[in-house]
Amino acid sequence: MGSGPIRHFLRFDDFSRDELQHVFARARLIKDRFKRYEFYQPLRDRTLAMLFEKASTRTRVSFEAGMYQMGGSVIHITTGDSQLGRAEPIEDTARVISRMVDLVMIRTFEQARLEQFAAHSRVPVINGLTNEYHPCQILADIFTFIEHRGPIAGRTVAWIGDANNMAYTWLQAAQLLGFRVNVSTPPGYGLDAKFAPAGPHLAVFESPLQAARGADLVTTDVWTSMGFEAENEQRRRAFADWRVDDRVMAAAKADALFMHCLPAHRGEEVTNEVIEGPQSVVWDEAENRLHAQKALMEYLLLGRDVT
Ligand code: CP
Ligand code: NVA
Repeated sequence: MGSGPIRHFLRFDDFSRDELQHVFARARLIKDRFKRYEFYQPLRDRTLAMLFEKASTRTRVSFEAGMYQMGGSVIHITTGDSQLGRAEPIEDTARVISRMVDLVMIRTFEQARLEQFAAHSRVPVINGLTNEYHPCQILADIFTFIEHRGPIAGRTVAWIGDANNMAYTWLQAAQLLGFRVNVSTPPGYGLDAKFAPAGPHLAVFESPLQAARGADLVTTDVWTSMGFEAENEQRRRAFADWRVDDRVMAAAKADALFMHCLPAHRGEEVTNEVIEGPQSVVWDEAENRLHAQKALMEYLLLGRDVT
């Protein structure tokens, strides 16, 4: 992508509003072509390495299928089956892998570890989820919102549940794209101000019902994210009232959408009725990981020099 510094997508706000608009527009076009079975292979001879230090279904399949569909190839690496599992430093791993491939996607624990990799990489690095952020998911979620309801600027998203990687990325996106997030978390599990600076894009509420009032989109996530399994039992008790059910959806606008990044735990953070109900767009959301990330990879590798 030109001769400037390497561009990474480690946080949602690594891209400007204009760049994001470009990526959303390309995702639309790439999706339409795909639905028409049109060949679009601008990434022939390009290789993506995917490094997973946590489990995945959607992220793996969407990146892997997306890269193959665009004519490239993919290498799947996990901690356990690589030298990372035997304590090879992440910096050395970055220097080696990035001499052999064109693009890297990483799912790991601390954002700092991802940044350490990126600092030693010769090629663009994509955040495939860290403890702090999940920017690829929010890219797909906002693309999904736009498909169903038009621009997200000026809208209200209700976040019910854990102050986790998804919540913090929604907040980053809200600040950048001009929408608002109403957050309700259980006592003791509130937002960390380091990742959630105050501003007109953020409002905090005591109860899920209050947060959902008037929202255009209601969204939630698991009570216990990957890497925090030891807190599972304690979290089950603390989060028992932070469930998206029919009452919460009824507090939102009549045409509010429901989203969940998945995997979901029905009966915990969301009821079966809501996730399977008419307002739920979770399957579109999952599918859009594919289209949005194809646009992302295209942008990181080819810039705007595309057809
Ligand atoms: N939503 C999401 O990132 O799913 P996976 O953990 O299956 O990749
Ligand atoms: N917050 C969840 C998202 C999973 C896609 C986690 O980090 O486990």
